[in-house]
Order: sequence, then C-alpha cells, then structure tokens
Amino acid sequence: MELSADRRAQLFDAGASALRFNAPMSDDRAAQLIDELRRHEPRAVVDLGCGRGELARLVATRLTNATVIGVDTDAAAITAARRLAVASGLGRRIQYEVADAATWTGSVDAAMCVGASHAFGGPAGLFSRLADLVSTGAAVVGDGFWETDPDPWCSAAFGELPRGVDGLAALAEAAGWAVVAADQSTQDEWDTFEETWVSGVRSIGTAAADAFAEQRERQYRDRYRTVLGFAWLVVTR
Ligand SMILES: C[S@@+](CC[C@H](N)C(=O)[O-])C[C@H]1O[C@@H](n2cnc3c(N)ncnc32)[C@H](O)[C@@H]1O
Repeated sequence: MELSADRRAQLFDAGASALRFNAPMSDDRAAQLIDELRRHEPRAVVDLGCGRGELARLVATRLTNATVIGVDTDAAAITAARRLAVASGLGRRIQYEVADAATWTGSVDAAMCVGASHAFGGPAGLFSRLADLVSTGAAVVGDGFWETDPDPWCSAAFGELPRGVDGLAALAEAAGWAVVAADQSTQDEWDTFEETWVSGVRSIGTAAADAFAEQRERQYRDRYRTVLGFAWLVVTR
C-alpha cells in the first residue's frame, strides 16, 4: 500500500491518539518505573521524546517535589501536552518544549526516554547523551530489542537493534551507567498496545484506514510478535 508521507502521518497520529503511552507500557509499569525514580529523589526530570506528555504528567503527579520538562519535535503533541498539564492542575511544575531531543540541554538529575532512541541515532547514542545530561542521577529508558533473530523484513522495518535486554543493558554500561533494574514488556502489554493502536487507526472510518489497520495487524501477528521486544531499564551514575 503506497501512502503519501502526510497520509501515513495522519494514520500514525490516529493510532497514537488512542493510546495513553505510545509504547507497550501498562499503567502498572509506568507507576513502577516512577517509583524506581523516586528512590533517587530527583528534583528535575526531563522526558525526551515525550509525545503528548502523559508519562511526564504522571511523574509530576507522583513525585510532588520534582519539576518536569517534556521535549518533543511534534508541535501538535506538545500543544496537547500543555493543555492536558494545565487541565490537570500541573501547569506550574511541568514545562513542555518543542525541540530536538538530541541537542536539548538543561539542568536535570533524572531523564526518561521511551521509544525515541532513533532521535539519538540509536540506543548507544541515547545512553551517551543521557550521560552528558545527567552527571549524577538516574534515567529510565524504554527501547526495542530483538528477542529472536529478525528476518530481513523485520530488519528493514525496525533497523539495527541490540539482542536481548542484556544487549541493551550492555550499551548502557558502555556509556558509564549502572543498570539497577531491567525488564521487558509482557505479551499482554504488547498485544494491548497493538490492538489499541489499530483501533485508533480504524476510528478514522475510511476504507484506506481499515486497510492500513488490517495490514498492521497482519504484520504484527505474522512478522514481529515475539521477535521484537521492548526493554525497560533503570540506570544510575
Ligand atoms: C514512539 S513515540 C513515544 C512517545 C512517548 N515517549 C510515549 O511513550 O508515549 C516517539 C516520540 O519521539 C518523538 N521524536 C522523534 N524524534 C525526535 C527528536 N529528534 N526530538 C524529540 N522528539 C522526537 C516523536 O515525535 C514521538 O512523539
């Protein structure tokens, strides 16, 4: 199916809009990751590639002494994030910026990056940049990895990824981080993520959107389910 870049972006936006987090992440996992961050008593937290800023809002809600900054290149997502922060009464402790995460600088003692390592050229670049930003503190990273050897279709679709959660952890350690917690999304988190994303695409209500949703369902079922994993690391330095 040949789609223009604009049309494709519209379909991806509809998929993302149906989700709370644009990653295979349950509400429980988000809460657990923030509880891990809490141990390090961060005062200023940045979420790089924050999308509509839901995780940043949750951090501000659960870590009441912290200020939070969300950064994303998607101006529409940042506009929505700002509106939602004000509506939740969190406007004074959250700032959202339209900026390239790869070059963003600021004074923080904790950082998060979920599903946006491509902004840094991949996970090695991400961990290195996080080390530049956080001299002493913690980071939460959610990112892809291969659970089993990818076929050429998967490699072309998702690019070069580390093998296993351990492979991602090794990249964090190589950048000077100590891995204090490591896990991966459950099959239920993955299936819920994919089903919800596809339901968002279908909500557009056109034949083209339905066809795109069906194609994605097939690809997930036949190509990358149980091949592509999503890892969760909490790292400190
Ligand atoms: C898969 S989404 C994840 C969003 C969010 N972290 C979440 O979990 O809901 C990836 C996000 O990275 C953002 N992004 C991509 N390249 C970026 C860059 N260079 N700088 C900042 N954000 C970027 C996209 O706009 C998108 O919102």
